[in-house]
Amino acid sequence: MSIAIQSPTIQKNEELARWGSIITDPRTGQPCKYMPLHPKQKLILDIVKRFNAAVAGTGGGKTVCGAVWCVKQIERAIRQYGKCLGFIVAPTYKVLARATVPTFVDALKGTALEGIYKASQSYYELPNNWGRIWTQGADNEGGLEGGQFDFVWGDEGGQFRKKVFDAIIGRTGAKEAPILITTTPYGLGALYEWYKKWKSEDADYNFVIFPSIANPAYPQAEFERAKRSMTPEKFRERYLGEFLRMEGLVYPKLQDALITTTTDEILTLLSLPGKSVGGIDYGWNDPFCALAAKIPSISSNDGKFREGVAYVWYERYKSETPLEEHAAALPKPIGNSILWFSEHVPENIMKLRKGGFRVKKAKKAILPGIDVVNSRFYSGTIKIIENRCPAIVTEGEQYVYEPNRDDEIIGDKPIDKDNHAMDSMRYMIMGLDYREAA
Ligand SMILES: Nc1ncnc2c1ncn2[C@@H]1O[C@H](COP(=O)(O)OP(=O)(O)OP(=O)(O)O)[C@@H](O)[C@H]1O
Ligand SMILES: [Mg+2]
Repeated sequence: MSIAIQSPTIQKNEELARWGSIITDPRTGQPCKYMPLHPKQKLILDIVKRFNAAVAGTGGGKTVCGAVWCVKQIERAIRQYGKCLGFIVAPTYKVLARATVPTFVDALKGTALEGIYKASQSYYELPNNWGRIWTQGADNEGGLEGGQFDFVWGDEGGQFRKKVFDAIIGRTGAKEAPILITTTPYGLGALYEWYKKWKSEDADYNFVIFPSIANPAYPQAEFERAKRSMTPEKFRERYLGEFLRMEGLVYPKLQDALITTTTDEILTLLSLPGKSVGGIDYGWNDPFCALAAKIPSISSNDGKFREGVAYVWYERYKSETPLEEHAAALPKPIGNSILWFSEHVPENIMKLRKGGFRVKKAKKAILPGIDVVNSRFYSGTIKIIENRCPAIVTEGEQYVYEPNRDDEIIGDKPIDKDNHAMDSMRYMIMGLDYREAA
């Protein structure tokens, strides 16, 4: 969408006309504000597909770029429909209020589109009855449902869960309206799906990837300092905006296995006939983690729980706590006792057995364990109740293979860090599924 630039003052400065973004009055097409944009930001404004992402290093100018993109979308919608309904999302209300909304409000200031932000109602009211731009933290999931928009902008959207992506895709479906995600890369599966589509040259996707220093305002010295102070992988991810860790996720399908349930539904699940297993990984400074799963041998009446699927419904994740206290807290479902697969700490195993728990030594081999867990993920026979098991979700999003010296992810050894729920899950599923070769 190109807008005729009619103001001679702006036309005079060729550099500005080339790299700048001109915000126009949608009624007249007259320019009313100039925003400085660097070439990569400009690229995001110029090529608008249905699914767009600006993935960049910290301070690269993502949020400014997102805000100006929104303004351009508002102009377009008003020209097209005489009205605009937009939606701006950030991972949390805090990020939204601190960075995203102020940048957006600032971009509109002094333009023909300047209106009023009504913080208590979470929307920006455009002037002349031109419509509203709703704003929302993705931590308030209920607020993501309902309504159709002319555009959606997700700031730091690499942190969004798959559910949030599904919601915003749904809310732009009727008008096939564009979505823009601006973000630094995270080890998350949801945006990575888009990235793969873009890589495979799907025409509905556009990614622009740029480093922090694409922003002329970003200090070169700070960029160099960061380069010296961290591993090359971290630097590439944080300052060059590269999708390094996503390539190496150990459980790339984990996001698809997440479900939410109510307490009543958990009670139904536990009342079904079937097996119960658990996994335990010990820690003091690092967290202790215990997980438990139920594998029903028949499906529930409402079809929510299927026969043969392992539903991970319990998680305890806590540091600096004596084993006695953990043991007192662990579930003991009546009539269906859990068989716990434990890390090899004989003294702890003894203690738990004395406390009436059924405990077996876990099979610890990492790679066969990952295989067994992944075959459940790929066949859809493991479901993780995410509202009960937040540590699995958090660790799972970060659980990656170590890159080799050339920074290629070769997939043989996961990074040994923040993996307590990952280990417990492996012990548990190994205990459930692994059969020794005869
Ligand atoms: N093209 C540009 N030219 C000059 N300054 C810019 C440009 N783009 C952004 N800036 C300025 O650089 C700073 C960082 O921009 P912004 O907040 O958009 O970056 P970000 O990538 O969202 O950063 P963060 O990683 O902190 O979220 C802001 O002060 C912004 O005004
Ligand atoms: Mg930002």
